[in-house]
Amino acid sequence: MVKISPSVLTADFTKLGEAIKELDFAKTDMLHLDVMDGIFVPNISFGFPVMKPVRKATAKVLDVHLMIVEPEKYVKRFVDAGADYVTFHYEATEHIDLCIDEIRKAGAKVGISIKPGTEPEVLDKWLDQLDLILVMSVEPGFGGQKFMPSSIAKCEYLAKKKQELGLENLIIEVDGGISAANSRLLFDAGAEALVAGSSVFGAPDPEQAIVDMINS
Ligand code: DX5
Ligand code: ZN
Repeated sequence: MVKISPSVLTADFTKLGEAIKELDFAKTDMLHLDVMDGIFVPNISFGFPVMKPVRKATAKVLDVHLMIVEPEKYVKRFVDAGADYVTFHYEATEHIDLCIDEIRKAGAKVGISIKPGTEPEVLDKWLDQLDLILVMSVEPGFGGQKFMPSSIAKCEYLAKKKQELGLENLIIEVDGGISAANSRLLFDAGAEALVAGSSVFGAPDPEQAIVDMINS
């Protein structure tokens, strides 16, 4: 079943609890949290102090996207703060095996993300150890950017690998510039989860925006 993972990055943070509660009955069981450190990406978002109240406000699966350098230093704390999936960037660390081990040991599911300039083949040797691959369809750092179609071929490659290796539980997720205008293309290319920020939280009816992306 295909899924939408709404990104709260473009929500009104003075009403974050309400915005999340509004999604309680929406057709999604995931919520995407973008953590930025101002070093890996040219923007700073939020960290542990925001994670904890979000965890309390929702029973949805928390899909945490770390755009930070040296993720190995922090992954355990994100699991302790309530993350269900912890996704770190391939480009952000030389200690990929350590990050995978730390997340797994702490009891969460493991994801790796690749930036638009990174080819999915770099992940080949870790595929059977991952629960999620996050293909960026914008340069990470900001919501509201234009979708980059180069992500489509990456989904096709990963979907083929997933099938060849029989990795039924691996989720292929795409992030950035996603709306009902491109969601069908991505699902058809093998994506199973799509992150959507502005097209959900900027919509007059976020629940309907989610349904429109799934049914596009
Ligand atoms: C960008 C973030 C995205 C962002 C998506 O670095 O990883 O998750 O919130 O926002 P939209 O859907 O507006 O492109
Ligand atoms: Zn993200």
